[in-house]
Amino acid sequence: MTVLQDKNILIAVSGSIAAYKTAFLVRSFIKQGAEVKVIMTDAAALFVSPLTFSTLSKNEVYTNVTDGHAWNNHVELGLWADAMIVAPATANTLAKMANGISDNVIVTTYLSAKCPVFIAPAMDRDMWLHPSTQNNIELLRSFGDKIIPVGDGELASGLEGKGRMAEPDEIVDFIKASISKKKVLLNKKVVITAGPTYEKIDPVRYIGNHSSGKMGLALAESCAERGAEVQLILGPNHLTVNHPNIHVTPVQSAQEMYNASHKFFENSDITIMAAAVADYRPANPMDSKMKKKEGDLSIQLERTLDIAASLGKIKKEHQILIGFALETDNELQHAQKKLTKKNFDFIVLNSLKDKGAGFKHNTNKITIVSKENSSKKFELKSKAEVAEDIVSEIIVLLNDKI
Ligand code: CTP
Repeated sequence: MTVLQDKNILIAVSGSIAAYKTAFLVRSFIKQGAEVKVIMTDAAALFVSPLTFSTLSKNEVYTNVTDGHAWNNHVELGLWADAMIVAPATANTLAKMANGISDNVIVTTYLSAKCPVFIAPAMDRDMWLHPSTQNNIELLRSFGDKIIPVGDGELASGLEGKGRMAEPDEIVDFIKASISKKKVLLNKKVVITAGPTYEKIDPVRYIGNHSSGKMGLALAESCAERGAEVQLILGPNHLTVNHPNIHVTPVQSAQEMYNASHKFFENSDITIMAAAVADYRPANPMDSKMKKKEGDLSIQLERTLDIAASLGKIKKEHQILIGFALETDNELQHAQKKLTKKNFDFIVLNSLKDKGAGFKHNTNKITIVSKENSSKKFELKSKAEVAEDIVSEIIVLLNDKI
């Protein structure tokens, strides 16, 4: 029996030539024992007939909000589904989903769905790479939707590159992995620090850094999806956290992050230090706004506490502690030194020399350096995919400890 046995799968088809592959996708789900229903836009029906999908799924196909028995059928469908898969998802459909423009059956159903939503984008290379599409993808990710990576190769336009919808088998595997990975971290307590810290100069000024918190949030989501209870200790940021297993403690300063980390650490199984913590703070923060005076200004700084190192000192045998190192030169050496000094189980190194890695990007390129001083290099990937790689390594460590 597969994990898809008796699962209710709702497939939403939008208007792209890749819709022909969705016919095979429906077949695959049926073969795995799932019950499948299909909804599609009018544009999708120009590529593949609704009759094809209703014959394959043995269910009525809806192309219109008012199809079926009642106008509010989309609510029922959204509640019926154990998983909703938008395949192919065109740039237009992605944009509508990201912004709640519910003028077709896919978006009205999407807004009603309570189940996990998987999105398999399909479009031309330049449309895929456009910042508008990439922003919509990030928005959808921030809602908790799963993006199935696009393929690379020949496109219908004749161009070469990224934008092809994943193959039906890849989509099914992605969804099966997502469903079955749920249990791996069940009952595990995870603590994650993320984002920057702001160190007060006066009531209107601070010393901070460019960390967005995205890597830490992606890690929190990856652990939460696998069933862990996650305490996310989060510095100032603009992120939306949207998972019932992720509990956020918002903090401002390194000292607040230190206090929160120590509060949760004792009961934790896994702790990931993804925050960019300020190493120094103003020694004498002002309670009222500093006025400018003639001449230059020096601000006396004092050291903040090293949260990771302090946890490394009290770490117990069963606990796993993971660190990050953002370096610009002698990367491997610096990472190895931090790994030992802070008593990490492994350290995730990213170099600012790598294009697309580090702060502000939606992508990252990492090397995992372990205690045995072995290092494992990964390709440039989305932060969500990088989080999957890191969490997979943690699970290997966890299994070694059992
Ligand atoms: N870290 C921490 N508390 C601090 C400073 C760093 O918990 N006060 C954690 C970071 O979250 C990261 C790791 O320690 O996981 C490495 O941080 P980094 O700033 O790169 O290391 P430092 O030891 O501060 O070294 P340097 O700034 O000299 O590179």
